[in-house]
Amino acid sequence: IRNIPLFQDLSEEELRGISDLFRERKYSKHSIVFFEGDPGEELFIIKSGTVKIYKIDNTKQITLALFRSGDFFGEMSLMQKDGVRSAHAETLEPSVFYTLRRTTFNEFMVRTPSLCMRLLEMTMDRLRGANEQIHALTFLDVRTRILKAVFQLSQEYGESETDKVLISIKLTHQEIANMVGTVRESVTKVLQELQDDRVISIRNKQITIENMDALKRKMTYIK
Ligand code: CMP
Repeated sequence: IRNIPLFQDLSEEELRGISDLFRERKYSKHSIVFFEGDPGEELFIIKSGTVKIYKIDNTKQITLALFRSGDFFGEMSLMQKDGVRSAHAETLEPSVFYTLRRTTFNEFMVRTPSLCMRLLEMTMDRLRGANEQIHALTFLDVRTRILKAVFQLSQEYGESETDKVLISIKLTHQEIANMVGTVRESVTKVLQELQDDRVISIRNKQITIENMDALKRKMTYIK
C-alpha cells in the first residue's frame, strides 16, 4: 500500500486508517468493471492487473487511459453529486482491486488535506495527458501518432536493459490503434517499418525499443 502513489504523502496512521476500509475484488481478463453512465459508487485502486478506460462510438473505440498496479480510477464521478461514470472500464489481464465506497473515500478526503492535494496533482497530470491526446488527434498524421504512442508506452511502461527499452505491457495492434484513433492495419504497417529499420523488435507480443534515438528522429521528421 506504501507503493500506491495516491497515498504517498499519508502518515503511517492515516495509511492504516484508510487501508482498513479497503475491500478486495477480483476480476478475470476482459471483464467490464463498469459502463459509461453507471452511477459512480466506488473508487478502484489496482493491486494487480491492467485496466483500459475507453469510449465507444458504434463499433469504434477510443482508449483514454491504461492503468496498472498502483494506479487508481473511478474518482471523477465520486467527486460529483449524483456523478456517473464518464467512460467504460475493462480489465486487459486478470486483475485484483482495492475498492473504497463513495462516502468512505469522500469523508477521508475531507479529513486529509494532503490526500486532496495529491489527488489534485495527479488529476492535473491526467488533464495534461488528455490535452496531449487532443493535440495529437487534431494535428498529427496517423503514422506520427503511432510513433508517439510507441514512445509514450516506452516512457510509461519501459524497463531499460542497457540502451534498450522493453515495453512491459502486452498490447495487440488493435489496442494500439484504439489509443491513437486509427485502424489495426495502419499500426501493423508502422510497426513493420520500425522492425525493418531495426528501431524496434517484437517478441511474444512485447515491443523492445532497440534504437531510441532513431525512434525520436522518426517522430519529429516527416517521412
Ligand atoms: P469515472 O468517471 O468515475 O469513471 C471512468 C474513469 O476513467 C474516471 O472516473 C477516471 O478515473 C478515468 N478517466 C476518464 N477519462 C480519463 C482521461 N482522459 N485520462 C485518464 N483517466 C480518465
